[in-house]
Amino acid sequence: MTEKIMIFDSTLRDGEQTPGARLNRKEKLKIAKQLAKLNVDVIECGFPVSSPGEFKAVQSIAQQVKGPIITALARTIQGDIDAVWEAIKDAERPRIHTFLGSSDIHMKYKLQKDPQTLLEMGVEAVRYAKRYTADVQYSLEDATRSDLDYMCRVIEAVINAGATVINLPDTVGYAVPEEYGAMISNIMNRVPNIDKAIVSVHCHNDLGLAVANSLEAIKYGARQVECNINGIGERAGNAALEEIVTGLVIRKDYFQDYRTDVQLDEIYKTSRLVSNLTGIPIPVNKAVIGINAFAHSSGIHQDGVLKNLSTYEIINAELIGGKAAQMVLTARSGRHAVKNELQEMGFVLEETEFAQFFEAFLELADKKKEVFREDLEALMADRLAYA
Ligand code: KIV
Ligand code: ZN
Repeated sequence: MTEKIMIFDSTLRDGEQTPGARLNRKEKLKIAKQLAKLNVDVIECGFPVSSPGEFKAVQSIAQQVKGPIITALARTIQGDIDAVWEAIKDAERPRIHTFLGSSDIHMKYKLQKDPQTLLEMGVEAVRYAKRYTADVQYSLEDATRSDLDYMCRVIEAVINAGATVINLPDTVGYAVPEEYGAMISNIMNRVPNIDKAIVSVHCHNDLGLAVANSLEAIKYGARQVECNINGIGERAGNAALEEIVTGLVIRKDYFQDYRTDVQLDEIYKTSRLVSNLTGIPIPVNKAVIGINAFAHSSGIHQDGVLKNLSTYEIINAELIGGKAAQMVLTARSGRHAVKNELQEMGFVLEETEFAQFFEAFLELADKKKEVFREDLEALMADRLAYA
């Protein structure tokens, strides 16, 4: 029996905090509908108190998107919680998500209140949210830089107040996997009522470790992972949804006890939609969904892949709804790949003819970064003209 890992998508909230990624109501709705097709468990669709437009966008999603739990963010302020509830109350499965900093840095500089007062504010906010719905998530912002004893006290108290999900964010992407796993494990062992809540993780990518930290946390008891399509988000972004869910499948030898319900073959489409609507480009070498993730350029690699894909590919592009392996023809490409490309274009050459063609190809490839089909066609046309 495998244990389900809930996928909490925050592309429309934390992801939209990416500088320049602002989305309007229609765009948010379009992405939310696609996230429902992707079959994520939770869609966090915004911060309703922030503006009337944001409120309406969250409300439209709550009214029209069926399947996933719909949530939105509130500070531990009654007005924020009221706004979230007003916006999400028509959802099939509404959740209120409230949060408060728990690290000394946040308490001293940002919140400027003492730890006990803040603990009580958290408890009060959860109690207030519970008047609206049974499903209340509480996040301890900056958990990875917080005192463990204090966090345990806060978690116990907010669970007693009715929190059903406890989220432990690595807000500034500071943790390393072993340390983050140990933090989750300590909390699982030390908080007496932790079994009454789902433990969630939310990792930022400042040190490039967001996905590694999230995967490590699963091994120590996290059952909800918060992540964003294409890894977009504040600063260096959040854990990339596509990397987490694909990693769990491709390394099922290592993660054999866990599964998600994500529809993997919707990943490619979702990723392109988010990139097109936010205007945030996908880096070419981005794991799983970058255009180079299934492209092979050097002759040695191309030769291997043409003989058997598994030589240089661990993910089949079709698994994520993408295009099959592509050969990029450059000056480093080998004969095998060029011959294969010509055959696919309908040209079958004798060995001596091909040898001459390959020389012409290399001459051109030395002048260009990449040789495209149009270039091969032009080379063939030249050859036919002089034949
Ligand atoms: O990074 C963070 O701590 C957050 C919380 C609001 C969950 O985004
Ligand atoms: Zn965040």
